[in-house]
Amino acid sequence: MRVLVTGAAGFIGSRVCATLTAAGHDVVGVDVMLAAAHGTSQPPDGVDALDVRDAVGVAAALEGVDVVCHQAAMVGAGVDASDAPAYGSHNDYGTTVLLAEMFAAGVQRLVLASSMVVYGQGRFACDEHGDVDPLPRTRQDLDAGVFEHRCPVGGEQLGWRLVGEDAPLRPRSLYAASKTAQEHYALAWAEATGGSVTALRYHNVYGPNMPRDTPYAGVAAIFRSVLERGGVPRVFEDGGQMRDFIHVDDIAAANAAAVEAELGGFAAFNVCSGQPVSILDVATALTRARDGSTPEVTGEYRSGDVRHIVADPARAAEVLGFRAAISPDDGLREFAFAPLRA
Ligand code: UD1
Repeated sequence: MRVLVTGAAGFIGSRVCATLTAAGHDVVGVDVMLAAAHGTSQPPDGVDALDVRDAVGVAAALEGVDVVCHQAAMVGAGVDASDAPAYGSHNDYGTTVLLAEMFAAGVQRLVLASSMVVYGQGRFACDEHGDVDPLPRTRQDLDAGVFEHRCPVGGEQLGWRLVGEDAPLRPRSLYAASKTAQEHYALAWAEATGGSVTALRYHNVYGPNMPRDTPYAGVAAIFRSVLERGGVPRVFEDGGQMRDFIHVDDIAAANAAAVEAELGGFAAFNVCSGQPVSILDVATALTRARDGSTPEVTGEYRSGDVRHIVADPARAAEVLGFRAAISPDDGLREFAFAPLRA
């Protein structure tokens, strides 16, 4: 198939292009080459400079395309409110231009890079009261080192459960708001045009050529960058925050599965390893692999951090036949020494 990959020069998009090409697809790669991600670099071989907000350029890139694999996005959580227009413009306005041009060109299939951040936080349950919507964590609890959410009925500390795709979407950051809106535009487009959208909700992605830590980086890039500077990762809270870390090659494999699945309508999938780990586990795996030292658990906390978010991989396995091949043990050991992008 001829596949247009947006964000093709990025950490994830470049692996998606490589995987699709290896699978025999004819890949057209475009990337806006945002200075925040690429500095002054020129697009790599096989990638054309294109902003998805440029309708004329997008129309030309769509010629003969069967599927669009939309990876281009401004990432991170947003540093402050001044980032909002950039998220809205690149992630949402850009997607609407792409969808309009796909309609005009008769391109009916979209694979959309979405994110676990659309859920806002994970699913929680109380031993006494079952599944509950947790109370927000109080400063008093956090200062006393009580990091778990409490039950809204009896105040008991809650445990985490796997999040399925039907969980409510409750974005809590600018980035999350833009990713949720992107899914909604895509869903509306699928309903109006009869097109198909496969939204892949990536969990915590890591792997070779991940960008170094920036104010927009997630924890894997921060830990890996600290180790490179000879420092020790600083683990917030008690390190018990649970996440699902997925290797970038598995993300690329999930995209290939979605491109090849030919589903109808709108469908969303968690893309995760299915092997939850704690943030302390991640820090320990990386430090151990490098020099055998131990990370520092600081007890500090950041307001707005999510305590646990752990995904259910079942739907992606059943419908797309996607199962992650790289365990966090193997992947993080490799990542401890993998190159990072400047
Ligand atoms: C992150 C991204 C989110 C992205 C998602 C999926 C940010 C801020 N969040 O969400 O945009 O879509 O992954 O890839 O970019 N922590 C430490 N030490 C540190 C930094 C963080 O212990 O130096 C802890 C935090 O307290 C938190 C956990 O690590 O509990 C994860 O932090 P982070 O990666 O920033 O956010 P996620 O919620 O996982």
